[in-house]
Amino acid sequence: MSAIQPPASRVWWKEPIDRVEIIWVVIALLWCLIMFFMMPYWHIFGEQNLANEAYRTTPEAYSKKAQEVVDKYTVRTETEQKIPVVAPPAGSDVYLIARLWSWWPILELEAGKSYRIHLMSMDWLHGFSLQPENINIEVHPGYDHVITVTPNRVGTYSIICNEYCGVNHHTMLSKLYVK
Ligand code: CUA
Repeated sequence: MSAIQPPASRVWWKEPIDRVEIIWVVIALLWCLIMFFMMPYWHIFGEQNLANEAYRTTPEAYSKKAQEVVDKYTVRTETEQKIPVVAPPAGSDVYLIARLWSWWPILELEAGKSYRIHLMSMDWLHGFSLQPENINIEVHPGYDHVITVTPNRVGTYSIICNEYCGVNHHTMLSKLYVK
């Protein structure tokens, strides 16, 4: 049988399956199953993926919570825009707002302590990329995306937006302090 000529018998699909074909179907199936179960396995044991949660919310509700944390735990302001630097207590919820074209506020965390960092966009899609760590999260409007993190290295990290979001995309930068 060739791919160009029509099949010799009309009911060509009723041919018995060749052994080689069965072997390949089984190999492909087993591989699919391995890959499938690797996803939950690697999530738990690979120590690579972030544990995250997402909730529907609105810009009003989200900014209200962010404002509460800023009002309570601001330790100083930075840059000409007077962006508050927030040092929340360990274990608490911390809110970061992404909008055209800034991150607000600046977070100051303690190494070895866990935090629930909330991320949300006020307008459209942005990307939260923490440099030089390999952390990369899409920040959507309408969703409160929560990541639980325990910073393990002291330093000043950069947050850059890595989803193209308009003419000033390249200026959408911020910092994250770990002390
Ligand atoms: Cu925000 Cu690119």
